[in-house]
Amino acid sequence: MKKKNYMYSFMRCLESQGYFSSEVDGSGVQRWKSTVKSSLLCSGDDKLRSLLMIIAQPPHYQPWGRVADVVREGRCGAELAFDGVDSVWKVFARNPHWQSSFDKAMSSLTVGALRAVKEVVQRDSLLDKTPCVMDVGGGHGVLLAQLLQTGSSSNPAMRGICFDQPHVADAARASPSPEIAKMGGDVAARISFVGGDFFAERSMPALPAGSVIVMKHILHDWDDTKCGVILACCHQALSPGDRLFVFEQLLDADAGNPMAAIMDMNMMMVPGGRERTRKEFESLLRTGGFKLDRVTNCSPMMSLLIAKRI
Ligand SMILES: C[S@@+](CC[C@H](N)C(=O)[O-])C[C@H]1O[C@@H](n2cnc3c(N)ncnc32)[C@H](O)[C@@H]1O
Repeated sequence: MKKKNYMYSFMRCLESQGYFSSEVDGSGVQRWKSTVKSSLLCSGDDKLRSLLMIIAQPPHYQPWGRVADVVREGRCGAELAFDGVDSVWKVFARNPHWQSSFDKAMSSLTVGALRAVKEVVQRDSLLDKTPCVMDVGGGHGVLLAQLLQTGSSSNPAMRGICFDQPHVADAARASPSPEIAKMGGDVAARISFVGGDFFAERSMPALPAGSVIVMKHILHDWDDTKCGVILACCHQALSPGDRLFVFEQLLDADAGNPMAAIMDMNMMMVPGGRERTRKEFESLLRTGGFKLDRVTNCSPMMSLLIAKRI
């Protein structure tokens, strides 16, 4: 029996979805070429490619495979899909390849948000007198680098601390992100990568008065109780009146933002967290000792919530 040509079936399927087009050349050989759709997934477009890479890896799709159990039992998908872990972060930590794909994806997704962040920070002079910015769960420091660079003209001495799990901080220090190198100047030299656990008391360094803590896409990874612990640690690191910048997508109570509703499901399936409405954030922050001051829309998928430490 003739063996099926799997590669041909694969390419035909992709072509049927518009990812490639094909033609038969003069010698009768069928050749495929890229289309606009497939070129979006080439290594030049890191945003979409890296997002696809993480969605296609086990830490993401295995928890989704337990969707019925997650919904029925209200448990975290990673905990159900992987033996002996209580969070997806431990699954990444077990496998350096998954960890590094995830970190790269987060960095390139962050690049997509930088222009909007820069505009808001400059327009509202948000960092003019800030001695230090600490990005909690800051990954490889791309957002932090952008904040330091944006503040450079009015505040060239501002320093940055990128706080994340010890193995993530070690990797960020050992192989600096190309996105930061592209920013140039002395930004990289003003960042320290500090390893720690944002659930452990006094794990975060105490900051000089007037500092800012930034958290982007952190609170949506966790339930309200865990967020309370993270906020308590941030509260401990800041002084009264200092600011907390939370970058998150806001959920509409009436399901009018379909992307937020899908991300809400994704947070429930993979890390065991949730997206929140403005009101829910306000209450979460209040319980953690912060008062929500204002909310600015950075893009359809990201808002900046500015809160003051009480
Ligand atoms: C969704 S990612 C967000 C990364 C980055 N803020 C961004 O938006 O690109 C969550 C981050 O939280 C970090 N993290 C998870 N658990 C942590 C813990 N217990 N202590 C410190 N960081 C943690 C992860 O390593 C990861 O970098």
